[in-house]
Amino acid sequence: MTRSLVATLLVALLAVPLARVTGQAPIGAPAADSTRLPAALFVTWDGDPTTTVSIDWHLHAGTDLPTIAVRGPGLRGWRTVTGEPVVFPHSTRHVRRARITGLRPGATYRVRVADRTYTYRTMPARLDAPIVFAEGGDTQPDDATFGATNRMVARHDVAFALIGGDLAYSNGDPRLVAREERWFETVSRTLVTDQGRLIPVIAGIGNHEVFGARDTSAAFAEMIARTGVRVGDATYYRALHAHARERQHGVIDVGDYLSLVLLNTGHTMPIAGEQTEWLRTTLASRRAVPHLFPVYHVPGFPSVRAYAASNSAAVRAHWVPLFEEAGVRAAFEHHDHAYKRTMPIRAGRPDTSGVTYLGDGAWGAGPRPIGRDHQGEAQWYLHRTASTRHAIIVTLDRNSAHFAARDTTGAVIDSVRVPRRAGDVAPAASRAGRQ
Ligand SMILES: [Fe+2]
Repeated sequence: MTRSLVATLLVALLAVPLARVTGQAPIGAPAADSTRLPAALFVTWDGDPTTTVSIDWHLHAGTDLPTIAVRGPGLRGWRTVTGEPVVFPHSTRHVRRARITGLRPGATYRVRVADRTYTYRTMPARLDAPIVFAEGGDTQPDDATFGATNRMVARHDVAFALIGGDLAYSNGDPRLVAREERWFETVSRTLVTDQGRLIPVIAGIGNHEVFGARDTSAAFAEMIARTGVRVGDATYYRALHAHARERQHGVIDVGDYLSLVLLNTGHTMPIAGEQTEWLRTTLASRRAVPHLFPVYHVPGFPSVRAYAASNSAAVRAHWVPLFEEAGVRAAFEHHDHAYKRTMPIRAGRPDTSGVTYLGDGAWGAGPRPIGRDHQGEAQWYLHRTASTRHAIIVTLDRNSAHFAARDTTGAVIDSVRVPRRAGDVAPAASRAGRQ
């Protein structure tokens, strides 16, 4: 055996996470010994995705695991990281959270949690090679639905999963806490590649994150008094998604090539006013970013529900003109539980220089019939539709973004290539005025 072959085999062996080598069940699996392991493992970003990672581990009642360890480029041996305690609302479980900083861009790290070892990959600082991620929404907690799409997504070796709201369908309700627990277990088990790489999740807010139940019964009043849950609060979402603690909208910038603008379609704050002004300044300060995608729950251009629905109308009135002025080429919408791709739209009509709206949220939720609430109106803006569970596999290169909607088997149900942003674009009306 040559020296180079030995070296290659050693590198390959080191790259295989311990959990895979030993055949141990991953965290989140319902194994007999699972109570001595964390119940779930969750990776997201609450900082720069090229140099940091935020890791939560959910712990069963009566257990603790204060530290995890990380090893890789720029670190001397295993770095032990202590997790800050985070309350898992209304659950017997509790959470520890670590934000690990000072990592190298585009590098792979080993992450040791109890006796399981995974890998994590930082995002590259530059778009020198194509980047692939998954997008969708309306997941639900269960393995058979959410998990099936997750496995398809993991097979595509995506850098991260971007989910536009309606996650576990707990409605922020203390009585439905098991759905939250199960959602994170499903992520732990299924948003991991065959090589044991943990896929970070960036999740926005939807209506099913928010407590809105109203009931006149004594039992309901007792539950409210006992748990302290408040109508309008996104109890679990704020606690369990590191980037959502302070506010439930924000922007995640990746290097100088990608910005994900997470918006809140009226769930814990209004569309108009402060959030729209924030969007205006957020877009203005990112004129040179070639790939900028707004991500939000309620669609401005719905495939199933009524065009006149108030939140959809508010998206079109307040945000769509800003997208168009900023030269946005694609936006992600959800909530309707179907697949849709609109025509490129500018100033309320098809325009090849406009924004393509992709959606409409059926990652795990049961698909609905297209046009169900359209009452016979022809929806001029719908270019492709399918009543199918799916995720959109997005591939970015320097000049374009390619979107392939894939069903849970991986079959392509639609695909389109959209050019990169060219920077600010004058509104259609003023362009017409110059002609
Ligand atoms: Fe929804």
